[in-house]
Formats: sequence, structure tokens, C-alpha cells
Amino acid sequence: MLWAIVGAASLVGLSLQVSRIYNKYKSLSRTIPTVRRVYGDREAQYEDFNSLVYTNAVVHEVLRLFPPLVGIPKYCVREQTLCGGKYVVPANTYLTLNAAGVHYNTDVWGPDAAEFNPSRFDPRENKLVKGSYIPFSEGARSCLGNKFANVEMVATLSNVLRRYTIHFSEGYDEARMKRELSESHSVITLQPKTPTPVIVKRRN
Ligand code: HEM
Repeated sequence: MLWAIVGAASLVGLSLQVSRIYNKYKSLSRTIPTVRRVYGDREAQYEDFNSLVYTNAVVHEVLRLFPPLVGIPKYCVREQTLCGGKYVVPANTYLTLNAAGVHYNTDVWGPDAAEFNPSRFDPRENKLVKGSYIPFSEGARSCLGNKFANVEMVATLSNVLRRYTIHFSEGYDEARMKRELSESHSVITLQPKTPTPVIVKRRN
């Protein structure tokens, strides 16, 4: 149940974060022609998910830059080694996986790791390095709702963008966006410090 709530909260957070970057990164508008072609005039269906490759890439890039669970708590019951024996984790140790740290690692993501670039997740352009993207964690105890949340976010984002444009409200600029993003904090999930004022308009 907690995770369903986390999922719903993430969805709302995702919309906010997408709206934050929408003005600056016009690449979001790249999703529109495909979304229109795939949906036509009908409602979205589950089968559409595989066709919305770029929209999915946008969702993953948002989760990379703003992982809802910044720290993933773990408890080590027995002594374990990491990185081929380089590190020893004693029994009865609490660990936190630093998802944000992994996601901003320039060794993996390049010098522009902090930039929003959905092409990183376009399977036609790049292949993911194992363990470099962990918003849902990895391994046997990773998120059970991964696929569900992913489909939900792609469906929501594509349905919003096919019908509406989203822009910052007057007086809200890039400098303010950056300042507020840097003040995001984690209360179970990552949250913006203040609400983002946006203007939503129905597309013609
Ligand atoms: C964007 C949305 C979501 C994110 C980022 C997310 C992330 C995570 C993370 C990081 C974990 C911890 C995994 C670990 O300890 O290694 C987790 C666990 C879990 N999540 Fe999600 N989650 C999301 C949505 C959902 C949804 C919608 C559901 C249910 C429909 C769900 C169900 C679960 C369950 C049951 C676990 C516990 C798995 C286990 O301990 O075996 N999650 N999630």
C-alpha cells in the first residue's frame, strides 16, 4: 500500500518536474507527433506503451534526475562483499543506496550528467550500463510496481501532452527553477520545496 502511495505521489511529482523543465527543454515537444500518431482520436491502450519509445525515455530521464527515493534503505543480515571483494559489509549493518549519487555519476553518464537529455534512454541510441539507473532499485528485492508505475507515467504524460501545453507562469524563470530544484528535499519521496506555478492550456 505504501508503495502504491509512493507511486501516486511520484506521478504528481513527475508532472510537476516535467512542467519545470518543459520550457527550457523543448525536446519534450518531440513526444507530440508520435503520441498523436499512436493514439489518433481514440483513448490510450496498454498496447500503445511499446510504441511510445521517446515518451518512455523522457519518463526515465526524469526519474534519473529526480529519483523519488533518493536513498534506498537496506539491512545486511550476513557479512557480504561488494565490488568483487573490494568492500566488506559486516553483518547487521544498515546501508543506504544513494540513487541520486549513482544517477549523477559523470563516469557513467558523461560530463553532462546533470543535464536533461532523454536520448540517454532511447534504446536505438544507447545501451544502459548495468547498475547505473536505480530509481526502482535492482535485484531480487527491487520494486514490484516498476512496470506498473512506468506504464502509468507514460500513459499520464502522453495523455496530458497530447491535449495540453504547459508553461511556467509569468515571473517564473530558469534561474528560479534552478534555485528551487536545488532546494528539493526528501520526505520519504523527493519533493520540491515550493509548488511550481504553471499555465496549462488546451491544444487546438
Ligand atoms: C515511480 C514510482 C515508484 C518508484 C520510484 C518506486 C521505487 C521503489 C524502490 C526504490 C523500492 C525499494 C526496492 C529495494 O529495497 O531494493 C520499491 C519497492 C517496492 N515497490 Fe516501488 N516504486 C514505485 C511505484 C510502485 C508502485 C506503483 C507499486 C505497486 C503497485 C510499487 C510496489 C513496490 C513493492 C511491493 C516494493 C517492495 C518489494 C520488496 O521488498 O520485495 N512501487 N519501490
